[in-house]
Amino acid sequence: MDLIESIKAKARADVKRIVLPEGDEARTIAAAEAIRGEGIAEPVLLTPETIAADAARLERYAQALYELRKAKGLTREQAAKLAADPMYFGMMAVKCGDADGLVSGAVHSTGDMLRPALQIIKTAPGMKLVSSSFLMECPDRSLGENGLLVYADCVVNPCPSAEELAHIAIASADTARTLCGISEPRVALLSFSTKGSARHALVDKVREAAEIAHSLAPNLLLDGEMQFDAAIVPEIGESKAKGSPVAGRANVFVFPDLQAGNIGYKITQRVGTASCFAVLQGLAKPCNDLSRGCSVDDIVNTVAATAVQAH
Ligand SMILES: CC(C)(COP(=O)(O)OP(=O)(O)OC[C@H]1O[C@@H](n2cnc3c(N)ncnc32)[C@H](O)[C@@H]1OP(=O)(O)O)[C@@H](O)C(=O)NCCC(=O)NCCS
Repeated sequence: MDLIESIKAKARADVKRIVLPEGDEARTIAAAEAIRGEGIAEPVLLTPETIAADAARLERYAQALYELRKAKGLTREQAAKLAADPMYFGMMAVKCGDADGLVSGAVHSTGDMLRPALQIIKTAPGMKLVSSSFLMECPDRSLGENGLLVYADCVVNPCPSAEELAHIAIASADTARTLCGISEPRVALLSFSTKGSARHALVDKVREAAEIAHSLAPNLLLDGEMQFDAAIVPEIGESKAKGSPVAGRANVFVFPDLQAGNIGYKITQRVGTASCFAVLQGLAKPCNDLSRGCSVDDIVNTVAATAVQAH
């Protein structure tokens, strides 16, 4: 079974309520119908009209949003206006437990979806930050985990510190386990250097991240710093990083910053003809972003992944 089918099967086993705040957008409406038809989730389409017709809940969300953000300077009037916006109304529905997760981004930019998620849903207990994993399915099944590669962070954190990189590595291993069914995540922290082959402060940061991650999760198979070829090609891993527990057979790849991560996933997608989609990790409740060029299938798949994250 391929990745998407296995995610959909898990989603069907315990149907979750997923909010779609872009409820008057054509692809989203078509996706909601498919999601309902396939029994993947219970989609809730939000529009300014559905919200206006739900006055009691709107009032409750406005008050709750005000309580949540008043210390940050949000006034009661501003909260009322924001709560009527489908993105904020949807986030408050998830926050207040009236829905299990949210998917948006067919219309909104990544930042416009991320900011309310970070401000309202916030990080899960024990998580230091929110980040993302891109699930890349390559035609060459000899790569990664039967062709599946988990890339992080390609969406959220522009310039993570060593400590943040360590947390991204651990969260990505968890996503590999829970969402992709990878029983043994093997995490490579990527750099332009393998095990001291080059000297630079940027390399030191990745090495320090590996040390921090190792101390936080001593049982996780993780190593770095290493180059991408040393991480993925067994012979090169053997020659450049002999004895490494992950070199040459990594299935989770942590990029040193957002520029490298975002460029890396797009090269794998466009040149390597991999299919891919992204999930956010580390939020207290699952919310996921779409690309504005997304297809109906992309929305259906992301809703399925969100439902599984909500389990
Ligand atoms: C995520 C992002 C939107 C935050 O930007 P911002 O509006 O400048 O955010 P701020 O630094 O003011 O933080 C806003 C809130 O989010 C929180 N936050 C920011 N980054 C966070 C993270 N990675 N994890 C958890 N919380 C985070 C802040 O603590 C703050 O919370 P508060 O308001 O309760 O104090 C920004 O980092 C960003 O634009 N990232 C790149 C997104 C992007 O364009 N990706 C393109 C690839 S598709």
